[in-house]
Amino acid sequence: MKIVSFNADGFKNLKSVSMIPSSDVNIIYGENAQGKTNLIEAMWILSGARSFRGSKEKDMIAFESDYARLTLELEDSERRQKIEAVLSKNIKERKILLNGVRQRYLTSLFGTFKCVVFTPEDLGLSKGPPENRRDFIDLCISQIKPAYSRTAAKYENVLAQRNALLKNIPFSPSEAASLDVWDEQLARLGAYISVIKYQYTKKLNIFAGRLYHELSGGREILNMKYRSTVYEDLEDRADWQDGLYKEFLSALEASRADDIKSGFTALGVHRDDVVVTVNSVSAKDFGSQGQNRSAALSMKLAQAYILYEETGEMPVILLDDVLSELDRPRREFIISKLKDMQIFITCCEPLGKLNGKKFEMSGGRLKS
Ligand SMILES: Nc1ncnc2c1ncn2[C@@H]1O[C@H](COP(=O)(O)OP(=O)(O)O)[C@@H](O)[C@H]1O
Ligand SMILES: [Mg+2]
Repeated sequence: MKIVSFNADGFKNLKSVSMIPSSDVNIIYGENAQGKTNLIEAMWILSGARSFRGSKEKDMIAFESDYARLTLELEDSERRQKIEAVLSKNIKERKILLNGVRQRYLTSLFGTFKCVVFTPEDLGLSKGPPENRRDFIDLCISQIKPAYSRTAAKYENVLAQRNALLKNIPFSPSEAASLDVWDEQLARLGAYISVIKYQYTKKLNIFAGRLYHELSGGREILNMKYRSTVYEDLEDRADWQDGLYKEFLSALEASRADDIKSGFTALGVHRDDVVVTVNSVSAKDFGSQGQNRSAALSMKLAQAYILYEETGEMPVILLDDVLSELDRPRREFIISKLKDMQIFITCCEPLGKLNGKKFEMSGGRLKS
């Protein structure tokens, strides 16, 4: 999948950006605070995912404007597609079109424009808090199965209701009876999500493991395993409608008294993690910075490869300021592993040796 053209106006500081990218490597360079990341973010939100910077939709519109207009034309092995978005401070005027057909939300676009974004924060994927790895796996799966993001959102919703109830029970003990309803729903959703995340992590381990092995010159072994807070072992288990559901439910029941005390649900997919080891030792606790960077790089590249394998479309790669953070071998490795994909790279200098179509970003405008 390739971007054929991209236009942005009034998205944060971007002004009349009109880009005909190369189908290969594109380098967007310029000084700080000129709009390079804004450009990457504008492309990314057209994939239907949440902003990687956590920006809310209303904050994406330029301070001095009422609208942000974005247009993206895509070409894949089968057809050309067009995404158009007009974001407005007046929500009634928001307009999102996919091939001319009106969509309700930006998230309704999920699944059309396949891309992988890589930012400096992602370099801490193996070392950072478990939440980062949970969100990463959730996003990877949602890109392959758009319906999964709704299931994950339902789980979060049920969890929030259960937690609210838990906090209320000390003041109103009779409400404890209604926990059953939430437990049942949480267990149904949780059992399913556990299986899906376990299986995705297994695949990620295979792909990332191969990449890491090569990156370390064959000297080190990366391993990744999904660690559930509910299940001992999920290998060869898929009975989420039956056995796994029941086990989830019993785990919730067993921790109910503690949960009431703490006002929080202690077990569930919201507490699970992906344990990353290098040569059998925890990368998070004992890995060097280099090992953790290689692990993160391998995980992100694996995300792109799996997306390609599962959907048959090569994703577009957005590298925001990561190359300048990496040493030469890692930089060359990542570029070599992304050949055949369309890449957008942002950086401060035009990265001398790297070939590609160059664009200079200055004051929210693009010069090519
Ligand atoms: N809603 C907005 N309207 C106008 N400008 C914005 C908005 N949000 C952020 N900016 C501006 O965007 C600039 C940062 O752009 P960014 O893409 O992060 O720069 P960089 O080129 O360093 O990646 C800042 O100057 C900031 O003030
Ligand atoms: Mg930036």
